Amino acid sequence: MKPLVILTRKLPENVEERMKKLFRVELNADDHLFSREELIDAVQRADILVPTVTDKIDAQVIGSAGENLRMLANFGVGVDHIDLKAAQSRGITVTNTPGVLTEDTADIAITLMLSIMRRTNEGERELRSGKWEKWAPTGMLGRQLRGKNLGIIGMGRIGQAVASRAKVFGLEVHYHNRSQLDGASEKELGATYWRSLDQMITQMDVISLNCPSTPDTQKIMSKRRIGLMQKHAYLINTARGDVVDEAALIVALEEKHIAGAGLDVYENEPHVDERFFTLENVVAVPHMGSATEEARIAMGELVLINIKTLVDGHSPRNRVLARL
Ligand code: DGY
Repeated sequence: MKPLVILTRKLPENVEERMKKLFRVELNADDHLFSREELIDAVQRADILVPTVTDKIDAQVIGSAGENLRMLANFGVGVDHIDLKAAQSRGITVTNTPGVLTEDTADIAITLMLSIMRRTNEGERELRSGKWEKWAPTGMLGRQLRGKNLGIIGMGRIGQAVASRAKVFGLEVHYHNRSQLDGASEKELGATYWRSLDQMITQMDVISLNCPSTPDTQKIMSKRRIGLMQKHAYLINTARGDVVDEAALIVALEEKHIAGAGLDVYENEPHVDERFFTLENVVAVPHMGSATEEARIAMGELVLINIKTLVDGHSPRNRVLARL
């Protein structure tokens, strides 16, 4: 008997077609968000659940899983919505989809950097509202990227992809990470390592958050650290909403303690604090880092490979282990 795979969200068509050929599958045709009851029902019946960032798979959900549940094959790289320890203690394998969304997420970080620093969204709003009257020598002045100091927090795959793009734009790349890169990588990216995050923040013109959300990185950009930023500096977040103290960020933006923010992710998605929408010094997009046809198909492919590997009796390469 083929294993029962339950998808919590609608995935790209060819991924779903392939799933149907390989496994018994329950799709989510109207792509609604699963309620907690639906999630619990799914983990009770499935052999394999394919969740996404929109599903909170906490200890209680895992605790109610049926004996058959062998795997949580996450569609996405971030697994902060899954209680990894609870899964591990129940012997449930968790996998993710790293690597295939790196470049697209880095593109969105640079897009946000360009939009907020060059004020393109503000300009577009002015144009669309019919308020643009004339070109002006002093109108819509933003800030040049070239020569500015960019501080990347989290120098994994995505951080490094941001760094290589930033180098092309002429930014000076700095970074803070749990461990320092090897000399050759630092040289290639022209990146300077800062052991002290606080010291790095005080010297940067732009901060880009590219770390995963873990207990160690929750609110890593705390109120105190936002306070260390220079008045002309920008904050870019394509990581997770909870790596920033969002309330403190809003106050810093309202009081112009920092110059602006480019945001792809929020603390309580899909609810976004409405104050962000009224601030001119914010560019905000709805969690679009990996939103390309290519990345989403590649993510689906990895989910398929992860499931098939486990079902065939092997250990999936993209297994995520809890840090115990
Ligand atoms: C990821 O893969 O982590 C994206 O943010 C979507 O979940």
